[in-house]
Amino acid sequence: MAAALTCHHDILAALHAPEQFSNQVSSHLNVPNGMDGDEHQAYRALIEPFFSDVVLTQFQPKLQVVIDKLLDNLDALEDVEVMATLAHPFALRAQCAFMGWPVALEQRLIDWMAAQNSATLAQDRPALRALAEDFSDIVIAQFDHARRGEGDLDSVTAQLTQLSLRGEPLPDEYLVSIVRNWTVGELGTIAAAVGSIVGFLAQNPVVQKQLREAPMHIDHAIDEILRIDAPLLTNRRRTTCPMQLGNESYDVETIVTIDWRAANTDSAVFAEPQQFKWDRDPHLNLLYGAGVHVCPGRPLAQLELGLLTRCLLNKFSTIQLGDNAFERALPPRGGYQTIWAKFNH
Ligand code: HEM
Repeated sequence: MAAALTCHHDILAALHAPEQFSNQVSSHLNVPNGMDGDEHQAYRALIEPFFSDVVLTQFQPKLQVVIDKLLDNLDALEDVEVMATLAHPFALRAQCAFMGWPVALEQRLIDWMAAQNSATLAQDRPALRALAEDFSDIVIAQFDHARRGEGDLDSVTAQLTQLSLRGEPLPDEYLVSIVRNWTVGELGTIAAAVGSIVGFLAQNPVVQKQLREAPMHIDHAIDEILRIDAPLLTNRRRTTCPMQLGNESYDVETIVTIDWRAANTDSAVFAEPQQFKWDRDPHLNLLYGAGVHVCPGRPLAQLELGLLTRCLLNKFSTIQLGDNAFERALPPRGGYQTIWAKFNH
């Protein structure tokens, strides 16, 4: 059985009833998103410190270097295809810098992601299995490197290898799953978010001007832009008992899709949902989820997207849509497949 939750009220109810809406929807290990209850809490507690103010303050100068290099490559005269030139490289380089991975790994990860996207679209299960093993090999090589004391001993990767639970070190399988959750899922989400932010700014010169004059509102504006144009479309739950939600009844063992885009554009909660408004209640925005599985990476995502947007607005006097038509991405990906912009000095 499968069903979709699209109404903000029902989604919020499901997110706050984790005993009835389990996150164990697949036989694959998924730390911590595929876990429930005490086990989930234990692994959440292990990963949350990686997104603390201290870690992010140390990361910010490295992120600035990534951004400066990328923005230097934006040609002021030409139409720039934002996804290929800025969004995907930014998501990948920022993540490599956060993990403390060498720049040399970048091309391998780009190739891996391209193969992963094709296999996902084609639902090619043997290819997906082989790619999962490739990913483990790439990440385990980085753990081994850190364990040999090579590279930065304070890097996030080195610190992950030090994690233990109830006195036992975390097995590589669990460490790889943690990194898979941060990488495979989130690179696409961050890239989609960058495309949507640039696309929105290019089409809304008034908001662009407002943010240049008052950059302290950038985070707030980004949350509203991404409420309208969801970078992450869905997550799933499994019902643990028969239940009634809204007008619908669900059997036990129903796989329920949580439709974030529908929740965040539900007109019962957001008047004129497709309009950008400054005065929305931020607590209603489900961009980063809610309940026990609410996104722990939110501070990192906000730092990355906020700093990039601030630098773009500082460096370029106007951002305009390019002459080429844009193409929207197809589910399961949100945002744009391609979007062209001109970055003018
Ligand atoms: C714009 C960027 C991002 C968006 C919109 C986003 C959104 C979300 C949402 C909606 C959830 C809840 C999933 C659920 O309820 O099943 C979630 C969970 C999660 N996110 Fe993010 N996320 C973003 C960036 C990141 C980043 C950068 C990281 C880490 C590097 C991250 C790590 C996680 C993890 C580990 C979970 C699972 C938490 C759990 O199950 O307890 N996210 N994210």
